[in-house]
Amino acid sequence: MFGRILRRQKLFRSHFRNASLFGKEYKEDHMTNLTPRIINNLGNHKHRIPNHPIEIIKNEIYKYFDQSSTSFAKFEELSPIVTVEQNFDSVLIPKEHVSRDKKDNYYINEELLLRAHTSAHQVELLRKGESSFLCCGDVYRRDTMDRSHYPIFHQMEGPRKLFIRGSEKVENDLKRTLEGLVKHLFGENVEYRWMDEYFPFTHPSFEIEVFYEGDWLEILGCGIMEHRVLVNGKAEDKIGWAFGLGLERLAMRLFDIKDIRLFWKSEVVQEQFQNFTGDFRQFKFVLPERKIEPAKFDLAFWVPEGFHEHDFYDIARNIDVEDAIENVELIDVFTHPKTGKTSHCYRTFYRGALKGLQFKDVEHIDSAIRAALQEQGAGLR
Ligand code: PHE
Repeated sequence: MFGRILRRQKLFRSHFRNASLFGKEYKEDHMTNLTPRIINNLGNHKHRIPNHPIEIIKNEIYKYFDQSSTSFAKFEELSPIVTVEQNFDSVLIPKEHVSRDKKDNYYINEELLLRAHTSAHQVELLRKGESSFLCCGDVYRRDTMDRSHYPIFHQMEGPRKLFIRGSEKVENDLKRTLEGLVKHLFGENVEYRWMDEYFPFTHPSFEIEVFYEGDWLEILGCGIMEHRVLVNGKAEDKIGWAFGLGLERLAMRLFDIKDIRLFWKSEVVQEQFQNFTGDFRQFKFVLPERKIEPAKFDLAFWVPEGFHEHDFYDIARNIDVEDAIENVELIDVFTHPKTGKTSHCYRTFYRGALKGLQFKDVEHIDSAIRAALQEQGAGLR
């Protein structure tokens, strides 16, 4: 047990030692798992860059809510560094809940992390006396590596606590308002459906899915705020609803952006969106044709104790600063019957979001990943 903790601690530690975040030094401990890649992009938020697709969608949502009779206060500069209590406890996420896991979050130390959702600010804003508000920000999650996942993305959150407790109107108001938002974004004729969901901080909870190019796509989560969240926010006499959505996901569908890495390619974003006229429904992003098939590399190794798949993706992302990796598949997991050691085999596909890449262009990235794995105690096979 103890050995395991030491190993886990070692994983990203050497990178973090001298790091300061927004000019402030933070103590590291057994939970620290930030990487230089994440630290270097901290606060590099896209929702505040004029005519960036994320900013365009944000403004469209603002526009919709600005037409309503309620006025919504807007928050988009809250720091992404939040306490464990803000991110989880304040919104009733149980102590042992899987979403707190280190494999899914970027912890600064055992008390602080980079927010994993904008719901981290619900209670704090309610306490300030805010009643109806929209809160937008960059959020951070450790995840797989493919064309729809990036460890930094953007969310918009909208709690609305308007009603005196006991009011029946709250669920109707939620449905009417969010259906209006979906139609505003996807057009009057959009096909959408309500699905039951579960979130610890709302009950009942729902998701809205829209039918898009032959598939149902989940676009937002919402529900009636749990009374205990309102109690935490010192608004126990009220009842209200809240929603949260991912801006990349909306922008990808609305602008036909097929690869999430494109949001980080400022040259293309600038070039394609500079003439944006304001009518986002007419706009389509043009992805350059990449003739070359992805270059593939397989890598098999005995994993160090406590190693998780997401650790591999962070090691790879940390080296692949230009985003040459299009996706990674864990193609084999195997435990040796005698030694009890576990081996993982990853297949990495290299292809730029803008241009094809050849074997010789990416060989050095693959070797650097191998070296980094060895440094972390992985036994290459
Ligand atoms: N925070 C939730 C998520 O990240 C979304 C959500 C927000 C759901 C508010 C309900 C209410 O998935």
